[in-house]
Amino acid sequence: MKPIKIGKVREFQDGEIKLFKFFAKPIAVWRKGEDFIAYENACLHMRAQLLSAGFCNSEKLTCPWHGWQYNLVTGSCLTKEGLYLKRFAVSVENDEVIVDLSNLIQ
Ligand code: FES
Repeated sequence: MKPIKIGKVREFQDGEIKLFKFFAKPIAVWRKGEDFIAYENACLHMRAQLLSAGFCNSEKLTCPWHGWQYNLVTGSCLTKEGLYLKRFAVSVENDEVIVDLSNLIQ
């Protein structure tokens, strides 16, 4: 699977979350400062959508369905130790933000 260009760096504000769907897979991309973090937007409990489009300045995320909690920076589940959200590699090349769904980094 080829990496996917999702937009220019300037199109993401700090703290902003944008939602995408690629090949029926929901992906949330969060800009945190100069970093971009991409997760499969699915809770590890029963796959509820975890993130909404908008802004997030908190590093703790609570699932709206049954309250499982996650560290948004690391993707670690705070409710069930040892579980992690699926996180995909994100790179920036020539001002383009690129998500690589074939490169699962956790
Ligand atoms: S689906 Fe997220 S806590 Fe149940």
